[in-house]
Parts: sequence; structure tokens; C-alpha cells
Amino acid sequence: MRVVAGSASVTLGRGLAEHLGAPLSEAEVRVFADGELYVRVREPVAGEEVVLVQTTYPNDSLLELFLLQDALWDADVDALTVVIPYFAYGRQDKRFQKGEAVSSRAVAQRVSLAADRVMTVEAHDERIMGYFGVPAAEISGMPALARYFADQGIDMVLAPDENAARRARVVGDLMKVRWDFLKKERIDSWTVETEEKPLEVEGLHVAILDDVISTGGTMASAARIAKEQGAKRVVGGCVHGLFVKGALDRLQPFDDLVCTDTVMSELSKVSVAPEVAASLEGR
Ligand code: R5P
Repeated sequence: MRVVAGSASVTLGRGLAEHLGAPLSEAEVRVFADGELYVRVREPVAGEEVVLVQTTYPNDSLLELFLLQDALWDADVDALTVVIPYFAYGRQDKRFQKGEAVSSRAVAQRVSLAADRVMTVEAHDERIMGYFGVPAAEISGMPALARYFADQGIDMVLAPDENAARRARVVGDLMKVRWDFLKKERIDSWTVETEEKPLEVEGLHVAILDDVISTGGTMASAARIAKEQGAKRVVGGCVHGLFVKGALDRLQPFDDLVCTDTVMSELSKVSVAPEVAASLEGR
């Protein structure tokens, strides 16, 4: 097995290669003067079982993924597994209004054109996995977050919205602490309203966990509620840290913040490589 890492997932690619004891190829990626991308896999890969790792944020990384798939598909690999650490466009997983694209389906269909199987970490909704035309598996990013918080004396795990409740339950169970969730209404990209409810967090250490942090609005709103109700320490974690402009300022109330390496940032303090490697090895 050989790991080929796209430019947006070099760190995770290295970690994966190490866990698998497999050789690593770091793809050559250049940007032409007009902004178009050029990719090349220098090593010969014919007859090999190849694992391509490339996340899909920011947007250009998605295009790079398609180009790398094409390069490998044409290179006579024996089998191509495409690992998409963060599957972008996941939140447009259905048509909310007439005339909209089902963006996650469009991306999944394109990915499936040059892949034998696909793996992704913490897809926004399980419906997405049904959009691929090849076998597709979702790997949970929650064990990595549970690992990070394991020795921090967490008393309770809180989901900032109903979608994240199943995730909080997984981590709560792994850490053997209670979990709860809030209800959120999204007003627009930058604004959310979170319904207040008694959380019984007076004097507690609370971990608020979500799949994605984008603007930080969802997490900031939940942190404010926990702190107002007397939580002693509020830490935050997500699998995919997008942290768009201004997000880190909004997240100041957190005493600690972590995301995984599905999207690289200064807060990628824990890796999903062990879980991805286990899944690739069928463990
Ligand atoms: C939405 O349901 C997701 O699970 C996240 O809660 C959301 O994407 C976070 O976005 P933001 O950081 O912009 O509030």
C-alpha cells in the first residue's frame, strides 16, 4: 500500500504512512499564472494499492483532489482508495429550496468517477455517504477529540446544537461523563440563536464539541450559555476547524480549543491518523 498526499493533507498523509508502515508520495502541485492548478505524482504507482489523501477545504483543494484522482486513475494503479478527511459542501446535503443544487451529491458523484472506494471523516450527515457511486465509509472523528480531552478532568460534554447531540453522546460515553445538547436556530451564515435551558454546569469543566467550526458563532453561543450558568472551565473541540475570518476572535471565551488534522490549522492538536489507518486496514 502507498499513501499519496495532496498539498492540503501533507501532515495527515505523513501520519497515515507512518501508522500503515507504507511509503509516502507527496504530490507535486503548482499554480499557473492564471490560477489554474498543475498536479503530478512523481513516483511510479502502476500495480500498487494507492491511498490518496486530500482534504477539500479551501475550495481549490477540491479541484486538486479531482486532478490527483485523474493522475492516479490513469497510472494503472491496482486499486485507488480516496480518503477525504473533510468532505466540503456537506452542509448542502439536500435541496432546502427549489432550484438549489444538492452540492454534496454533486461532489460525491464526481469523486466516484475515479475511485474504487472512498473514506471520509465525520461527514456532516450520514445521508451523504449514500451519494457516492462506490463503497464509501464514514470514520468518526470523535475518538480523537476524546483522546485529547482524556486527562483534562472534563465533567460533562455539551453539543451546541441538536445535530451534534449524537457526537456528544459518543464522546460522553468514551469519557464516561454525562452529556447534553442545546437547540440552535441559524438565522444567516454569521448569526445563530441558541435556546437557553438549564444545564446544571455550576462549577464544572465542560467540553463543547461539534463537527465543524466555521464562523465560530455556534460554539461561541453555547460557550456563553455554559459560562453564564456558572461553568468553571469551558473547552471546545471540533473535528474540522475551518475558522473563517474573525472566528478565532469570537471563540475567545474558550479556555482551550482544539481541532483535528482533517483541515490543518494552528489548533490541529490531535490527529485522526490512528482511526483512518485502522479503517484502511479493516480493523
Ligand atoms: C451545522 O449544523 C454544523 O454542525 C456546525 O454547527 C456549523 O457548521 C458551525 O458553523 P459556525 O461555526 O459558522 O456557527
